[in-house]
Amino acid sequence: MVELVVATGHRGAAALEPENTLRGIRRAIEIGVDQVEVDVHLTKDGELVVMHDDTVDRTTNGHGRVRDLGFDAGKGEVVPTLQEVISLVKGKVNLQVELKGLGVEEKAVETVEEAGMVDKVVFTSFRHPALKAVKELNPDIETGVLFYCLPIEPCRLALDAEAEAIHPNIHFVSAEMVRRAHALGLEVRAWNSDEEEEMKRLIKTGIDALGSNRPDLLVKVI
Ligand code: G3P
Ligand code: CA
Repeated sequence: MVELVVATGHRGAAALEPENTLRGIRRAIEIGVDQVEVDVHLTKDGELVVMHDDTVDRTTNGHGRVRDLGFDAGKGEVVPTLQEVISLVKGKVNLQVELKGLGVEEKAVETVEEAGMVDKVVFTSFRHPALKAVKELNPDIETGVLFYCLPIEPCRLALDAEAEAIHPNIHFVSAEMVRRAHALGLEVRAWNSDEEEEMKRLIKTGIDALGSNRPDLLVKVI
C-alpha cells in the first residue's frame, strides 16, 4: 500500500497570502492541506503570537521586537495568537507549531492542552532542549527536530530529544536517510518545496510529510 504524504502549508500558504496569518491558514485549509505550519513567539505580556522573526519589521507595518498585536501583517491581517490559530484549524487540519522564541514551551503546551488538541499538534524546533522540555511537560505531544546543517547522524538528534520525527531541509533528503529513520521508528517530514518536479522527486524518497509555501501545487502533486 502506498502511504500518502502529509501536505503541510508552510506559514499558512506563504507564497499566496501574508505568512503566519489567519487569512493564509484559511487559504491553505481551502486548498486542502492536511496540516499547517506556524512559528510562535512570546510577547512581553506573556501572549503567544504567531510570527516567524523575533522582530515585526519584515512582516508587518511596525518596527521593533514582537511585543504588540496591533500591526498590519499584510492585506489588513493582524498578527494572530496561537489560540486564534487553534480555534481556526480545530476539527479541520492538524497543526505544526515551530517553537521559535525563547521560553515559549510551557505556554504553548498549556494552550494546546486547553484546546484539546494534544493529538492534533506536533511541536518542532531547531532548539532541541525546547522539545525535551515539551516532552517533560506532556509526553503525549509529538515533536520533531529541525536542523540547519546536515548532521552526521540526524536520527540521533531525534532520539536524544525523544522526538518522533526528523524535519530535514529538502536539500538534505535522500531515500537512504528516510530508510534509516523509518528503521528507527522515526518519521521524515521535509521542508519546503514550491516546485512540482522537485515535490515529485522528494515524495519518491518515501518521506512522510512535505511542507510548501505553494500548498496549491503540493496538494495537486500528492
Ligand atoms: O518547517 C520548518 C521550517 O518552517 C523551518 O524554517 O525559517 O521557515 O521557520 P523557517
Ligand atoms: Ca517555521
